[in-house]
Amino acid sequence: MNEILIEKALASVKKLFEGNSDGHDFFHTERVYKTALKLAKTENADLEITALAAILHDADDRKLSPETCENKLNAGNILTELGIDSERQTAILKIISEVSFVGTDSPVPETKEGKCVQDADRLDAMGAIGIARAFAFGGSRGRQMYNPDIKPTLNADSRTYAKIENSTSVNHFYEKLFLLKDMMNTEAAKRIAKEREQFMKEFLEEFYKEWNG
Ligand code: ADP
Ligand code: NI
Repeated sequence: MNEILIEKALASVKKLFEGNSDGHDFFHTERVYKTALKLAKTENADLEITALAAILHDADDRKLSPETCENKLNAGNILTELGIDSERQTAILKIISEVSFVGTDSPVPETKEGKCVQDADRLDAMGAIGIARAFAFGGSRGRQMYNPDIKPTLNADSRTYAKIENSTSVNHFYEKLFLLKDMMNTEAAKRIAKEREQFMKEFLEEFYKEWNG
């Protein structure tokens, strides 16, 4: 893997994310990149494709860049600047287009590289950091932390998930975070996800205990 290329890609993405604080920041990208690379090594996947897809996976996120999210212009431009050939660009952009959780019918990537990037992104939504991100995100959208009168929408497919409104950050655990463990692609990610889910369950137990005095 060409380290200089990776450093350049990281620097380009860092610029895009400057000032974002809802948990969708450069540090999220950096963690996803590192985790994806570790998974890629255990899966014998192409390290450079995995690394570039991980680094660019949120460069055209709908919330960050609504005007480029359809055509992935930020990612495409950076890949062109880095001199990545069109065949590899196509592979990387496909991974990015399939990475997100959109509901129970979320796409399962065909390639090893795509599986690693998707697992890494989902692992970052779990555990201590996942909890922090959920509350940071909820807060940034004016969502309540918790409200026992608002029930979660369980096992939503993409059509239903996209329409969830007026939910809470605690509900997000049931609407997405607790579904992730069984959606992991790689064996290594399944093991990590199990531990992180356990931690999220303990967190919620304590949360309800304190809530109920
Ligand atoms: P990514 O694909 O990078 O995991 P998303 O764009 O789906 O991320 O969400 C960014 C972060 O915010 C994730 O940690 C996610 O779990 C969290 N999040 C997304 N939607 C909600 C929500 N409705 N309430 C609370 N947290 C959310
Ligand atoms: Ni992400």
